Amino acid sequence: MKSDLVLGIESSCDETAASVLKGPREILSNVVASQIPIHRRFGGVVPELASRQHLLSIDTVISQAMGQASCRFEDLGGVAVTYGPGLIGSLLVGIQVAKGICFAHKLPMAAVNHLEGHIRSLSLEHSSVPLPALFLVVSGGHTSLYLARREETGYERLARTRDDAAGEAYDKAAKFLGLGYPGGPIIDRLARHGDPRAFAFSVPRMSDGSLDFSFSGLKTALLRHVEAAGLKPLAFLESDGPEPGPGDCPKPMLDLLASFQEAIARTLMERTLRAARETRAAAIGLVGGVACNTRLRALMAEEAARHGIPVLMTRPQLTTDNAAMIAQAGFEHLVRGELADETLNAEPSAVL
Ligand code: KG4
Ligand code: ZN
Repeated sequence: MKSDLVLGIESSCDETAASVLKGPREILSNVVASQIPIHRRFGGVVPELASRQHLLSIDTVISQAMGQASCRFEDLGGVAVTYGPGLIGSLLVGIQVAKGICFAHKLPMAAVNHLEGHIRSLSLEHSSVPLPALFLVVSGGHTSLYLARREETGYERLARTRDDAAGEAYDKAAKFLGLGYPGGPIIDRLARHGDPRAFAFSVPRMSDGSLDFSFSGLKTALLRHVEAAGLKPLAFLESDGPEPGPGDCPKPMLDLLASFQEAIARTLMERTLRAARETRAAAIGLVGGVACNTRLRALMAEEAARHGIPVLMTRPQLTTDNAAMIAQAGFEHLVRGELADETLNAEPSAVL
């Protein structure tokens, strides 16, 4: 690499993001343009609107990231871009722009898997991750456990969700209850004011003993509780105003949200700790948007400490989608000489 500066570009879902990273962990800039206001009234991401908005924002986002880092394209050692998984139209915007920059400035390009990016986000704040390490990748699209035994051997997937992702369960619940979008952060805040023992949710287990996750049953249980308690949805999806506060929700709704959140956090924690024990993991990494959840963070840290296993997390800004994590993973690819070329295509269902 002719320089240790890497431009990261991320556009796999509803965030247009660019970041300049110096070396493995010095973040010179980290710009994220969120599309939340555009998708909010639909209670979820609308793919056509997302790709259109990426097209409108990406030049500005990259200019801002380069400007804040006082960096010119010719100063870069390479460009890292997310190639999948994600929405095809959204991914293509980032990929085409990355190709253009690399072609114009004769720079090497690294193609990064979005999930690898989430895992590598830990290296932005931790100088080393003890191996073997177990990673819980928990976001709007994914809920998986990966094991890294050695630096060279990559990631082995130990579990995935068989239906909804944990973030999807949060988002669907918030949509159903008319609380707004995305549901995770809203429910996280409201749940603090409720009683997590008020409503019964069973922690789902696989009959075949597998470590896989399943969240659709929790969603169905939530719907049943809503009906039984006679709860009516609020009207925060349609409004562009502030998010609901505890005063906007009847007490049973706060209790229901707290109980729902507790069930998700416990499921994630129990399954992760079982996997950590089975694999004798030296550390647990908690990454992806849902890893911002305050209850999950506390529960995981508490239970892992009882087993003497350190839990690595990052600040929320690096936990949800961002391009610094893509630049970090890309930096490692570029150092190893793993380069992509102009034939790079989007892979909406890329696996790690
Ligand atoms: O990693 P991310 O930004 O995008 C994907 O790759 O999906 O994750 C977004 C997901 C959304 O489902 C959102 O509701 C959830 O992360 N999320 C949270 C919290 N903050 C974001 N879920 C629970 N608690 C939070 N505090
Ligand atoms: Zn993500």
